[in-house]
Amino acid sequence: MIRRVSPLYVRMAVYIGAAIVGFVLLALASLALIASRQLENYLLAREGSLGRDAAQVLSGGGRDALREWMADPRTIPDGVVLYILDAEGRDLAGKELPASYRRFVERFVLAAVREEQSNFSPIRLAPLLVAEDGTRYAFLLLPQRIAPWGNAATLIALLAAALIVIAVVAAIIARALGKPIRELQLTVRTLAKGDVAARAPTAVTGRGDELGALARDVDAMAERIERLLASRQQLMRDMSHELRSPLARLQAALALTERKQPLPEIEHARIATELERMNQAIGDVLRFTRLEAEPIRAKHLLRIDELLQTLVEDERDEAGHRDVRLVLIAAADLTVVGDPALLRSGFENVLRNAIRHAPPGSPVEVSAAPRQSAEDPATDTVEVRIEDRGPGVPSEMLERIFEPYTRLAPAGDDSTGTGLGLAIARRVFAAHGGHIHAEPATPCGLQVRITLPRAC
Ligand SMILES: Nc1ncnc2c1ncn2[C@@H]1O[C@H](COP(=O)(O)OP(=O)(O)OP(=O)(O)O)[C@@H](O)[C@H]1O
Ligand SMILES: [Mg+2]
Repeated sequence: MIRRVSPLYVRMAVYIGAAIVGFVLLALASLALIASRQLENYLLAREGSLGRDAAQVLSGGGRDALREWMADPRTIPDGVVLYILDAEGRDLAGKELPASYRRFVERFVLAAVREEQSNFSPIRLAPLLVAEDGTRYAFLLLPQRIAPWGNAATLIALLAAALIVIAVVAAIIARALGKPIRELQLTVRTLAKGDVAARAPTAVTGRGDELGALARDVDAMAERIERLLASRQQLMRDMSHELRSPLARLQAALALTERKQPLPEIEHARIATELERMNQAIGDVLRFTRLEAEPIRAKHLLRIDELLQTLVEDERDEAGHRDVRLVLIAAADLTVVGDPALLRSGFENVLRNAIRHAPPGSPVEVSAAPRQSAEDPATDTVEVRIEDRGPGVPSEMLERIFEPYTRLAPAGDDSTGTGLGLAIARRVFAAHGGHIHAEPATPCGLQVRITLPRAC
């Protein structure tokens, strides 16, 4: 079986290959630069008048004067070494020729020194100095060192070349791999937040490598989740519809039976309450599923203080039964746009929860104030706070209570809730472009904050 070469492997191999080629080219260029710098002094000295000066000293003071002249540190410029060699290859100053030059000097320089006068005078590698007595010397000027290896400049140049290549190739790799990974991460995070319609960008899914395959898998997974959620919702909606009619018939049958043959009051009340609970639960499920599927249609300009005022008045009886004081502090000029019935149902559930959990004799505070949006300071929002002094909610449950059917220990005598109230409220406020969250109140209890965009 032929195993397909991994596209990511090929890509990485190309990057590494490019890095090596880049490094070699840069290193060669910097070494050539260093060598040419080293050669510069040598070439300058060659083009100068050093040879002529030596010839003059030799003719003026002979061999000894020439030896002194070349021993003077001021004579020889930096970066070059001067050898004045006799026919045997001995330097006047007694310096040893580097071993690497010896063969070369023997063949091409000393041969010319030893050569008798003839009518053939080829261009010499080293000028000849001729003393008064006819002794001939080779004037051999060598660069002190053309050796890029092993010096500090080379080390720094190679390090710099390596760093430049690493930086450039790393940036290319980060762009080529980091960008799709970030885009994929964004998609996964959006999915995790609950937006199941999120998909990876086509630039990532269209890639032929493993990242592209991963993006396509994520998309396939998201599609499946979306379909599952849609079918779950459809099932909940259909079931609730199907249950409604038999329930209505059951209620009617109970009334009919009651007329023909009255049941003991307690039995009748129990059956009626249970039927009403079922009705309520089915209604909640329908409302919850409908809120997700349909956008809000009714849009009215509403004064928040008026809405809260009516709500508080309507709940006063219930609060009175439980010996709970309702306190409302709402600024007068706060308006929002939305569906009055839906918004009321959202606030009502939060307020009813607070009343239900508040201990007797304690207050439940409802307040509304203008706020600047934390995410976008240019947006004005209305913040409604509903706060009680009850047992509160453990911190790990503060988010979870907004999930459907999450209920903590039933509050006091009341265990009638379906656990959908806050989930519905969250959808109601989200559908109005707002947000709801809960946090612990001080010194105790729960504080629920609702923000809605303020109408201008
Ligand atoms: N003010 C509060 N103090 C303490 N716990 C609370 C408070 N509000 C809500 N909770 C907890 O959060 C859970 C979920 O609340 P939610 O309103 O969604 O459902 P419910 O009130 O139980 O039923 P429903 O509102 O559907 O009739 C509640 O069961 C309760 O345990
Ligand atoms: Mg509730």
